[in-house]
Amino acid sequence: MDKRPIGIFDSGIGGSSIWGEIEELLPNENCIYLADSKNAPYGEKPKEQIVKFSVKNTEFLLSQGCKIIVVACNTATTNAIDFLRTSYEVPFIGIEPALKPAAINSKSKIVGVLATKGTLSSSLFHSTTKNHAAGITVLEQSGTGLVELIESGNLESAELYQLLESYIMPMLDKGMDYLVLGCTHYPYLIPILKKMLPSNVMIIDSGQAVARQTKMVLDKNNLLNMSPEQGIHQFYTNGDKKILEAILKNVTANNTVSLKDF
Ligand code: SIN
Repeated sequence: MDKRPIGIFDSGIGGSSIWGEIEELLPNENCIYLADSKNAPYGEKPKEQIVKFSVKNTEFLLSQGCKIIVVACNTATTNAIDFLRTSYEVPFIGIEPALKPAAINSKSKIVGVLATKGTLSSSLFHSTTKNHAAGITVLEQSGTGLVELIESGNLESAELYQLLESYIMPMLDKGMDYLVLGCTHYPYLIPILKKMLPSNVMIIDSGQAVARQTKMVLDKNNLLNMSPEQGIHQFYTNGDKKILEAILKNVTANNTVSLKDF
């Protein structure tokens, strides 16, 4: 039994999609979510810088007493998780694009992956592709510009729609029947994507799998919070507090959003 919070960080608001899945699966766990929006996007930055931001975020969460860290950012996972795991004692949960279920279920054997440049160019992504998508054509598309638009909080702009369309249509023309969202910001695009894609094209993200993995690792390490009380959730951002509040519609009096520089 361990009441200490789960720490979750992302380059911004995107990882809140992962936080939502964790809250649903582990409702009595306390959580601290850190949105490093000031430094978003990570996806176009050099590896050393991504590692530096990830270390800073980790140090903040550890200073708050977190028992486990969920790196709710594909770019930070693919570039920094090895370093974090060798530098700190707490368990780390990372996020990888859900290529395996897409590759297994694709009928056309053509799978699209929308992710940041930082994720697509990482060695972890290349090994995932090699290990889980043999015999599959993987269409890699970098979503340059999408994170900035999502971070601005306007999920319905014509600019966002057009940019997304320019990334998705070429993959559709090539016969993709599965679209893997390889960035935790992108689940916020699912309503637009559903309008854009024919109904036979499936969209997959990693949120539920990450929540299940978090539960499994907590259980294995005797870190689960068995208290019957509902968990308390704290959110920190160094960006626009109002945007995070709008995204987290279920934030209540017990669950706070604070503005903090880190
Ligand atoms: C970014 O900061 O560029 C995106 C974060 C992610 O890859 O999940």
